[in-house]
Amino acid sequence: MTRYEMESDTKLAELRDTARRAMERAYSPYSGFCVGAAVETREGSVHGGCNVENASFSVTICAERVAIGAAVTSGGRKLKRVYVCSTSAEPVPPCGVCRQALSEFGPDLEVISEGMDGRVRTWTLADLLPEQFRLEDHVAGPRSEPGARAEGHS
Ligand code: THU
Repeated sequence: MTRYEMESDTKLAELRDTARRAMERAYSPYSGFCVGAAVETREGSVHGGCNVENASFSVTICAERVAIGAAVTSGGRKLKRVYVCSTSAEPVPPCGVCRQALSEFGPDLEVISEGMDGRVRTWTLADLLPEQFRLEDHVAGPRSEPGARAEGHS
């Protein structure tokens, strides 16, 4: 095994552990469905999130978007992989809202999901969201202050 492959496996294990630990913290008294997610930035940092439900159901936030928020808060804006696990027997793909949220920070993201039965599925985000909405495809000219966007800012 090459050094790159070893490092990459270690990172995958960290990503999975972070997602699973996050799932244990899920706040889901209304659905009873627990989800954990972990995102890996291109720089190699890993950030977890769990779903956080609310008595006003539409206020609920998915695990993936909590993990994105944690990454961005730590300065990570370029996402490489996301690992999702849940209390479903089957590996669940991220919901549509989370696909769009992930595309902001990782248009070429790899999505990995593990079910309770241990089965793992992987997709590219482009598989799951083939027509990503990007404002720059529809708005002409410079906009916003420097550093406001995910790309082009380190
Ligand atoms: N959920 C996630 O956390 N991620 C998804 O991609 C799908 C759904 C959560 C939201 C809610 O707390 C519960 O699962 C049931 O929809």
